[in-house]
Amino acid sequence: MSTENKKLYIETYGCQMNVSDSEIVGSIMKDIGYEQGHSPENADVIFINTCSIRDNAEQRVKKRLKEIRILKKKNPKLTVGILGCMAERLKEKLIEEQEFVDLIVGPDAYRDLPKLIKTVETGRKAINVLLSEEETYAEIEPVRYGDNGISAYISIMRGCQNWCTYCVVPFTRGKERSRDPQTIVEEARDLFNKGYREVTLLGQNVNSYNWNDKEVEFHHLLKLIAEVSPLLRVRFATSHPKDISDNLIKTIADNHNICNYIHLPVQSGSTKMLKKMNRKYTREWYMERIKAIKKHIPDCGLSTDIIAGFCTETEEDHQETLSIMKWAEYDYAFMFKYSERPDTIAAKKFADDVPEEVKSRRLQEIIALQGELSLKRNTEDIGKTFEVLVEKISKKSDQELAGRNTQNKMIVFPKENYKPGDYVMVKVHKCTAATLLGTAVEN
Ligand code: SAH
Ligand code: SF4
Ligand code: F3S
Repeated sequence: MSTENKKLYIETYGCQMNVSDSEIVGSIMKDIGYEQGHSPENADVIFINTCSIRDNAEQRVKKRLKEIRILKKKNPKLTVGILGCMAERLKEKLIEEQEFVDLIVGPDAYRDLPKLIKTVETGRKAINVLLSEEETYAEIEPVRYGDNGISAYISIMRGCQNWCTYCVVPFTRGKERSRDPQTIVEEARDLFNKGYREVTLLGQNVNSYNWNDKEVEFHHLLKLIAEVSPLLRVRFATSHPKDISDNLIKTIADNHNICNYIHLPVQSGSTKMLKKMNRKYTREWYMERIKAIKKHIPDCGLSTDIIAGFCTETEEDHQETLSIMKWAEYDYAFMFKYSERPDTIAAKKFADDVPEEVKSRRLQEIIALQGELSLKRNTEDIGKTFEVLVEKISKKSDQELAGRNTQNKMIVFPKENYKPGDYVMVKVHKCTAATLLGTAVEN
């Protein structure tokens, strides 16, 4: 059966790794004749790339599946696949629950898609949720979806074996493994030659990147990519506080095109909670690392992830989270209520004992404090001039452009003759908690 001009529509939930995986899936499907469709209504195949990180992430996907089921009723020829972390976590249970779904594929099994699609074409269900210890999709050139042509993601490692007690990722993504650095550098060079000006290196814990028994560590890799061109900005996410080395901090400080921005999830400000979470660092260790960052990179942008209401968290623990936030003065934070995930160590061993209303109230206090901190940090930027890499036309006005400074802050300014891909010096004159507003100035 010819698959020419068939349309694939992928919807992606969850983290940047999933966004990057969807681009790998797009590439594998392109090789068997599927082109990118822009709406689920006229697609031949719909893939939902899913996330399991919190219960509400799974609920969102389930709600969406109800709508897709209606599409499938109207068009029985439609193939529906569930990919990613929910596929890995729930496996065949998903087909039992969602009987209209044709295909279940875990994050390490995407190379098998052509075969699985063939199985579905013969009228059977197909499932592959095998995890791998080697798969990095190293030589697959991802298609670039929904992208501005300026910044792109590059996956540099997969999996996680840190086993934070609350977290489902080690179950859904398997063992940690690093991708061949040569293929990463080639992908970055190719993107640069195609006009891209920024790459974000992705992994659950990028600073434990390790190729060939430490022959290439993360700071080496960063430098290799920075050497592709001084005009290519390099970013990365996520860093684990236990692995932020002085070498890494110095490499960031010494290279202009490695962005001065670190996302360093603290999760909690209480050493007791950090231990219970199995984060492998203390409050003091974390603070010492932030001090080292601020010493070597004084203008470094900093963001974090915080979980409110993890098992046994007391009011005192919560206050320690608020106080470390104030101390670190994060520019931005992703903030969550603890959500118990089946099979995790926390689910098996600890009681989810912080009442829902206490979790909510603590989260609200954390969000309110971060709002103040973001506004304070942005206000401090008024009057400063930043180098901005223009990414796109501003959402609010086609007379304005939007781009980021090295600290990862979005800056909006009048367009004049500039265009996406340009580096422009912009002087900030106003801000909100989310955005800086400025005007281009001569270099
Ligand atoms: N690998 C990254 C984070 C991946 S998940 C790291 O270790 O920093 C992104 C964030 O989701 C985590 O940092 C954590 O704050 C949050 N998270 C993970 N599991 C959670 C859970 N069970 N409940 C609530 N938030 C959770
Ligand atoms: Fe989850 Fe911890 Fe791994 Fe991050 S480091 S993905 S929080 S287990
Ligand atoms: Fe979600 Fe899986 Fe990413 S659980 S956060 S999509 S690694």
